[in-house]
Amino acid sequence: KKHLLSIDDLSVDDIGALFETAAEMHDVQRRAVKKLPALRGRTVINLFFEDSTRTRSSFEIAGKWLSADVINISAKGSSASKGESLRDTVLTVTAMGIDGLVMRHSASGAAHQVAGWLDIPVINAGDGMHEHPTQALLDAYTLQRKLGSLEGRKIAIVGDLTHSRVFRSGVKILTKLGADVTVVAPPTLMPSGIASWSKDAGFATSYDVDSVLPEADAVMMLRVQKERMSGGYFPTAREYTVGYGLTRDRLALLKPDAPILHPGPMNRGLEIAADAADAAQSVVLDQVSSGVAIRMSVLYHLLAGPNEGEAK
Ligand code: CP
Repeated sequence: KKHLLSIDDLSVDDIGALFETAAEMHDVQRRAVKKLPALRGRTVINLFFEDSTRTRSSFEIAGKWLSADVINISAKGSSASKGESLRDTVLTVTAMGIDGLVMRHSASGAAHQVAGWLDIPVINAGDGMHEHPTQALLDAYTLQRKLGSLEGRKIAIVGDLTHSRVFRSGVKILTKLGADVTVVAPPTLMPSGIASWSKDAGFATSYDVDSVLPEADAVMMLRVQKERMSGGYFPTAREYTVGYGLTRDRLALLKPDAPILHPGPMNRGLEIAADAADAAQSVVLDQVSSGVAIRMSVLYHLLAGPNEGEAK
């Protein structure tokens, strides 16, 4: 039984195989082929304890285009809101006889915990401030389709690093694929312990976005996660935009063909100006589209083929 909990679970060869399968899924995305039968008879539950637009709907589309039955459960409207524990919730839904669980939870490590309780594949769709591995896969896949090999390419990740699982998974996959990554944040949103992590993992850190952007072959802007800043956030919104936002003026610092990524949802006017979000070099919607292909690929790799005990 395999899970996808962290980018640490994947070798460079695994990532290559996932990208290869994702590329094969584009015929389905173009609707030239309506559905593939790979997961016929399989049931996948999307169990979301945190809100989502992109991840949940793309996992649902991905499962359905592979002919799986997909059930969505969100914490709001489930018995979790009556106080049912995470363990009881996942044991209850899996007792119904499902084949795979896609889970998002606000607690870092929740997906790892759940994987230890279950004997079906678990896919981490975001756990707190820890990891979001399918986001990292779709970001790297989008970049590779735009830039070719990422070996030696300079990629800037800019924003609220402290609260970002997109950053934590993203920096892992991009360095694994040989990219030269610099992460940029104001001092108050730079994670503690990043000095030793960046040294060990081989990426750079900076507080100065204006010196990083002109060199970048691509820039990934991150969302300011107000919902994870219970004590208010500093810098203020205005200071953040002036110091770190991808404003119209900063857009002019970028190479004209450097892709601009943002995982969404975007705070337009805070970390990214409309001029940048909607620029010709923005690949925000390519990321969404790649997300379906990547999630089809992940579901295929983890769930296709005979189950244990099934006739081959
Ligand atoms: N990027 C991302 O995870 O978006 P959602 O929260 O809408 O799923």
